[in-house]
Amino acid sequence: MGIIIHEETGVFHLCNDKISYIIKKMPDGHMGQLYYGSRVRDREDFPHLLELAHRDMAPCVFPGDTTFSLEHLKQEYPAFGTGDMRYPAYEISRENGSRITSFCYRGFRVIPGKPALPGLPAVYVEEDREAVTLEIRLEDPVICGELTLLYTIFEELPVIIRSARFQNGGEIPWKLERAMSVSLDLPDCKYEMLDLAGASLRERYVDFHRLHPGVQSIHSMRGHSSHQFNPFLALKRENADEHSGEVIGVSLVYSGNFLAQAEVDTMGTVRVMAGIHPEGFCWPLQKGEEFQTPEAVLVYSDEGLNGMSQVYHRLYRKRLARGYWRDRERPILVNNWEATYMKFNEESIYAIAKKAKELGIELFVLDDGWFGKRDDDTSSLGDWTPDLDKLPGGIEGIARSVTELGMQFGLWFEPEMVSPKSDLYEAHPDWILGNDDRENCLGRHQYVLDFSKDEVVDYIGDRMEEILKTSPITYIKWDMNRSISDLFSVGKGKEYQGTVYHRQILGIYRLYDRLTKTFPQVLFESCASGGGRFDPGILYYAPQGWLSDDTDGMERVKIQYGTSYVYPVSSMGNHVSAVPNHQTFRKVPLATRAACACFGAFGYELDLGLLTEEEQKEVKEQVRFVKKHRKFLHTGTFYRLRSPFEENEAAWMVVSPDRNEALLAVFRFRQPVNRGYDRLKLAGLSPDREYEISDRDYRCFGDELMNVGLILSDRASGVLKAEAVQGDDTARLIWVRAVG
Ligand code: DGJ
Repeated sequence: MGIIIHEETGVFHLCNDKISYIIKKMPDGHMGQLYYGSRVRDREDFPHLLELAHRDMAPCVFPGDTTFSLEHLKQEYPAFGTGDMRYPAYEISRENGSRITSFCYRGFRVIPGKPALPGLPAVYVEEDREAVTLEIRLEDPVICGELTLLYTIFEELPVIIRSARFQNGGEIPWKLERAMSVSLDLPDCKYEMLDLAGASLRERYVDFHRLHPGVQSIHSMRGHSSHQFNPFLALKRENADEHSGEVIGVSLVYSGNFLAQAEVDTMGTVRVMAGIHPEGFCWPLQKGEEFQTPEAVLVYSDEGLNGMSQVYHRLYRKRLARGYWRDRERPILVNNWEATYMKFNEESIYAIAKKAKELGIELFVLDDGWFGKRDDDTSSLGDWTPDLDKLPGGIEGIARSVTELGMQFGLWFEPEMVSPKSDLYEAHPDWILGNDDRENCLGRHQYVLDFSKDEVVDYIGDRMEEILKTSPITYIKWDMNRSISDLFSVGKGKEYQGTVYHRQILGIYRLYDRLTKTFPQVLFESCASGGGRFDPGILYYAPQGWLSDDTDGMERVKIQYGTSYVYPVSSMGNHVSAVPNHQTFRKVPLATRAACACFGAFGYELDLGLLTEEEQKEVKEQVRFVKKHRKFLHTGTFYRLRSPFEENEAAWMVVSPDRNEALLAVFRFRQPVNRGYDRLKLAGLSPDREYEISDRDYRCFGDELMNVGLILSDRASGVLKAEAVQGDDTARLIWVRAVG
């Protein structure tokens, strides 16, 4: 594994057992892309891969060589205005108004392991031998600019991580108007694009479409990664499916505005890029200053979409999520939000916690409404002092009472926000993002604090620390309930304004960094009106995130399924809530709600005291089940088998690393009538081992289960031990265990 360098020919071949990524210094000094895909043998040079011939009538060619046109070459980090008419990876504006730059190769550096990116979340290594990093240094002498392209390749994973760093080495300032994290030119466009699109309450729905000429893009300009699109896209070959075929995934480790796009040109090539959205972005660089982009994680899979997802799961669970909770079993929690909303007092909270303890639940989480005078969502954000009318003993009092029950205590914050009706806003009206000479939009009756300003971040950090230091708190739910509008930082100059979106995110990362370092044993769960900021950037600080405010058990099947394309089971905060469901008014059976939620960081979000005796018994059993199997569920290999976006029954399974056992989940939306024959092919088992199947009295070998499948049209088949559960909105959990 590693980086093979051919200095004479200017070829850099990043490779491991699985992949090759080959780039080359081109005759004009720019970096060209030659190949990305399954491993190929090395050569001193790959001249045949540099396709020079131009096709159009009048391409803009390199002086002295009419065959050399950037328009038709595959490049690594294309510039604006240098003869390439496609979208550039970056754009710089100079004081004289020129936007033309040309960065040419100057040298390289190989670094064992993977250096951290200052102030930014990033994939890491624990030992240098896990990965190696290549830095390619390029220069534009006209603007005294330096551009460094960073590449990391992992030893054991088909992963390339890319980012770029700009530096101004000259006296004259210039501005970065666009700086993508990755640009990747591929030689043909016979792909389908997958992205995860949605909205609040239906986050990360699966969206596939064939690539077509022109640009197809996803983005966020909301100041957070958003419910609408996730910072991820994949290109899959048209014949690829979940289990086989070629797929390239692009995932951006960033939580703010982003753009990810695939541009198909008329010669049938495709340029994929991802990075900070250029809209509203303009970063001035003075002498000696640097700008580092967030990083993008490319995964190549020749084992279909499941193959790609499993690589992301492994990498993000073990080398992006960090700290005390990374490998620990996550506590089963009960959250009071849907049980009480903001109408609670010490007694009602204590009663839920006490019942939870009886049922085996481990952590009580006090949600919104505990501070200031917050009886509804119109006030008090920013005033992080307990409401003593609701909680006479303060947070310390209730946290101690809950802890004395033998449970852990967790608390909700929305650190980035302020209500107009609050002491904080009265004292610091200039601390919000917004204009000071016109009215600003409110979102959920609140403003966004200006986290581009250090003093604001420090103030909120101090308030949170005070509470965390005085009370036995082991968990924080960090919420964020509105997008950014009216982007303006009061009191700051013109040049500063184009940096605010990004500085806002850097401020959030800084606060996360401070709190996770000061309280390393506190478990952070991220949340943003449900899943409005569920991205790899946040996962670096908070190893789990609240997936969606839609808690309907069957709606969750879709949301979890979509989320699983990138994010591991361990990162998905999932709760069983009450019926009728508060979002859909459906009555999904308790067993289905739990069957779905157990594929994640499991919890409840209802008044447990309102459950019948029978239901309480069921909950106790669910809690026992999750305690016993959570490690397996979080660390096993996850396979999507059947999509809820395509079929009436969805299915997925988790297989243990040794392939000895697997848990299959099948979710049915509508009860079929006189259904046809149906077999579900399993995945990930050992073909030659024999398995017991928990709901039937015959055994099968792995090859049979994977090639023939498991008969699902069971009513007619008469092969089940017991009648399978029937009806709408039902779930079946089936164990498949190796015999002997
Ligand atoms: C939105 C979150 O997604 C909910 O779970 C809850 O915490 C509310 N905010 C509280 O305001």
